[in-house]
Amino acid sequence: MKKRLLGVNIDHVATIRNARGETYPDPLKAALIASRSGADSVTIHLREDRRHINDDDLKNIIKKLKIPLNLEIAPTSEMLKIAIKHKPNYVCIVPEKRNEVTTEGGLNLKKNNKFLKYMINKLKNKNIRVSLFINPSILNVDESMKLGTNCVEIHTGKYCNAVNNKKNINFELSKIKKTAKYASEHLLEVHAGHGLTYKSIKRISKIKYISEYNIGHFIISEAIFVGLNNAIKKFKMMINN
Ligand code: PXP
Repeated sequence: MKKRLLGVNIDHVATIRNARGETYPDPLKAALIASRSGADSVTIHLREDRRHINDDDLKNIIKKLKIPLNLEIAPTSEMLKIAIKHKPNYVCIVPEKRNEVTTEGGLNLKKNNKFLKYMINKLKNKNIRVSLFINPSILNVDESMKLGTNCVEIHTGKYCNAVNNKKNINFELSKIKKTAKYASEHLLEVHAGHGLTYKSIKRISKIKYISEYNIGHFIISEAIFVGLNNAIKKFKMMINN
């Protein structure tokens, strides 16, 4: 089986920095350590309110990082312009709500249909790989294909909650498995992420249709105790077990 890839989301290094209005810890430093520790890509989410990663972080990281950068952005004209200007290797389009603590679910593909199609087209024309963050459902895969995306990233939040609460785990996992299988049979690249931990990665990493996991909050949290390098190495081992 092909090796599964790990994308490391470093947003919360910026969250810690911004909590004190300091210049440290520097997300660029985290990106470079992630790269040296075996991450296959680095993810940053440039939110409209710039609550963690800011425009300077994007500029600095894109200049120095030698592995692919995955930029998460909301489907807006401002973000499209920024992505086209900086040309990250990958863009993952995610929904955004001002008052949410984190990205609570996948995109509403029907509601955003016209702009998403336009945005995907513009990004692909610049040779940027585009992924859509979706809730696990066959219908969402069908819509994603119509929009012309290269990949889908399945939101794993409900599955992770199920693992944490020890309730409906198999139900949530089977939704992800069915969606991943269907998407991969239709030649979309399939990624997964949100809320994943050492515990929740165990079952989901057995789904052979998923080629990449994007993990952030737990890795940065673990890094406090064991260092970024060790947390990344452990996940790399677990996803390829
Ligand atoms: N994938 C996507 C598209 C995300 O927006 C996020 C962050 O919300 C993640 C993965 C990583 O989630 P977490 O930080 O919970 O690991």
